[in-house]
Amino acid sequence: MKIENSLPIPQLPEAPSQGGLQFAVATEEDFDEIMAMSQDIYGGLDYLPTRYTAWLQESNRTVILARKQGKVIALESVCVIDDGETMLVEGLRVAPQERGKGVAGHLLRFCSQLVKSKYPEVKVSRLTRDDQLGPKDFQKYRLITKQGILLVRFRAEDIKLRLAGLGQDGDTLPASPPPPSSSSSAPPPFHLGLTEIHQLYLTTDLMRGILPNATIVQDWQPFKPLPSNMAILLKKEIDWMVDDVTCPTVASLCTFPFRVPIGDDWYYLNIDMFGKDLVLVRQQFLCHLRRHTTTLKGHVMCQMFLDPPLWKPMAEFCRHTLQVELVKEYTEQCVVESDVV
Ligand SMILES: CC(C)(COP(=O)(O)OP(=O)(O)OC[C@H]1O[C@@H](n2cnc3c(N)ncnc32)[C@H](O)[C@@H]1OP(=O)(O)O)[C@@H](O)C(=O)NCCC(=O)NCCS
Repeated sequence: MKIENSLPIPQLPEAPSQGGLQFAVATEEDFDEIMAMSQDIYGGLDYLPTRYTAWLQESNRTVILARKQGKVIALESVCVIDDGETMLVEGLRVAPQERGKGVAGHLLRFCSQLVKSKYPEVKVSRLTRDDQLGPKDFQKYRLITKQGILLVRFRAEDIKLRLAGLGQDGDTLPASPPPPSSSSSAPPPFHLGLTEIHQLYLTTDLMRGILPNATIVQDWQPFKPLPSNMAILLKKEIDWMVDDVTCPTVASLCTFPFRVPIGDDWYYLNIDMFGKDLVLVRQQFLCHLRRHTTTLKGHVMCQMFLDPPLWKPMAEFCRHTLQVELVKEYTEQCVVESDVV
C-alpha cells in the first residue's frame, strides 16, 4: 500500500484480500471522481458537494481517499474535536460496485491509525449512523444518543403561502390535547446572538437538561459544549434559537438552506431540535421555516432531528396542517462512539 500525504506515516493495516488499496489525502482535483461514485448517497441529500472545498481547508480535518488501480473507490473524513479527545468520522462512502467487500472497514481502520499517529491524545471515535444497528454493532459502539429523523419535502413558494395562514404556534392544528408541560400561547422564540450562545451553552448549566447526553448534535455532528467546539460551530451559517434565554425548555439549530444534488433547484434545510415540549418544538420549527423560505424559490428537503416521541405528532402536523409530503416513515440517527486503540 502506498500513502501520499503530508501526515506522519502510521503502521498500515493488512492489504485487503480483494486487492490492493492505496490511501491518499483528497485534493480539489479529486472532486469529480468523488462525485461520480456518490450518485445515490443519502437519497440525494449528500452534503459533500457543498462542503467538500471547505472540508479541505479545515485544519483539524483530513479527507482520505481509497483508490483501487488508481480509481477512487472510497472516501472518509476525520475531524478532531472535543479539545482533541474525539475523532469524528464523516462522509464515509464506498463506490456501489465495491460495497460488501470490506473496503469501509479497511478505510476506517486506516484513518483511525492515521489520526492516532498525528493526535495521540485522541481517545474515542464518534460517528452518526442512520441505518439499522444490530447487536454486533452495539458490541463495537456505545450509544451516545438517538434522535428521530423527520424528512419532508415541499416547494418554498407553497410553504410560504401555507405559513401565512398559520399563527406562530401553528394554531390551525386539529384539536388535540397539548402535553401537560406545554403552553399554547408561548411567547415567540429568541434568535440567539453570539454572546447569548456563549453564555447559554458554555457558562451556564441551563442546557444540561435539554441537550441529549450533553451533546450538541448539529447536522449529524456531535459536539460536547466546549469553547473549542463552539468556535467550529460558530463558523457555520446556523440559526440558534431557544424559547426562553433565562430558562430554556427547547433549543434548536437550523442551517441556512444549501443546495443538494437531487436536481437544479433543490435545497436542504437541516434542523436539530432539542427538548421535549411539542408546542415549543412546533413553534421553533415554524419560525425556522418562515425565516428561510421567504426569499427561497425551488424545492426544499427539510430534515429535522428530534426527540423520538415527538416524531409522530410532528409528522402529523407536517402532513395535515402544513400539507407537506413526508418523504419517509420513522427512522433514527444514532450517535455512537468507540475507543480508539
Ligand atoms: C455504508 C458503506 C460505507 C459500507 O461500505 P462497505 O465497504 O460495503 O462496508 P464493509 O464491507 O467494510 O463492511 C461493513 C463494515 O462497515 C461498518 N459500517 C457500515 N456502515 C457504517 C457507517 N455508516 N459508519 C461506520 N461504519 C459503518 C459495518 O459496521 C462493518 O463493520 P465491521 O467490519 O466491524 O462489521 C457503503 O455501503 C456505502 O457507501 N453506502 C452508501 C453511503 C452511506 O450510507 N454511508 C454511511 C454514512 S452514515
